[in-house]
Amino acid sequence: MEVVILPGGRQIASLVADAVENLLRNKPDAVLGLATGSSPLPVYDELARRHEQAGLDFSRACGFTLDEYVGLEPGHPESYREVIRRDFADRVNIDPDNVLGPDGSAADIPAACRAYEDRIRERGGIDLQLLGLGTDGHIGFNEPGSSLASRTRIKSLIEQTRRDNARFFRSLDEVPHHVVTQGLGTILESRHAILLATGAQKAQAVHDLVEGPLAAICPASVLQLHPHASIVLDEAAASSLK
Ligand code: F6R
Repeated sequence: MEVVILPGGRQIASLVADAVENLLRNKPDAVLGLATGSSPLPVYDELARRHEQAGLDFSRACGFTLDEYVGLEPGHPESYREVIRRDFADRVNIDPDNVLGPDGSAADIPAACRAYEDRIRERGGIDLQLLGLGTDGHIGFNEPGSSLASRTRIKSLIEQTRRDNARFFRSLDEVPHHVVTQGLGTILESRHAILLATGAQKAQAVHDLVEGPLAAICPASVLQLHPHASIVLDEAAASSLK
């Protein structure tokens, strides 16, 4: 695991966009793992800028999102399918048919989760997985207590995560209680995982992830087992590291 501490969001976005750009230049049909939430937004802005101004080409790439809410009607603006379309896919030249997410509205969710894992495998696995970090140490929506070997499946959100995400909805009541998420075992199979965290509210989770024991109580600590994980932080998020 490498830990990179940078002064601020602009430098983080630039470094992570460099990693995506290098990958696409070496492997134009790369498979990207896409996170939602606030943390990756500056990266998507920078990738959109490089596409527009320097022709960074996503035409042969594909993307798999990490997770999805259960119970939002199709087209809901906060469904992660919509969020990733708006924040990333519509702003570069990736084929919309090549951007997939777990299906939170399937009649048979376990079957849809298995199918999602099959799709990832058929594309050869994820080359570069972007991750944010929950204040409770979650990655994807693998909440504390998640099996370190878990695969894509349905999970319940804890109240802290629902409260953290209420800013995207009109009220806390509208935040779904359930999600489908890639598992920790799924995330571990990515060839390179880049986790971004900014702000003092992430400092404890960053400490637990980097310096705490490998433990299901901090799901992100599973990245200690990842063969190529980069933890990219601003100074506030790094402030509890020794
Ligand atoms: C989103 C996701 C979550 C977020 C995490 C941090 O797809 O999987 O793990 O990355 O909740 O969210 P932000 O970046 O909004 O602080």
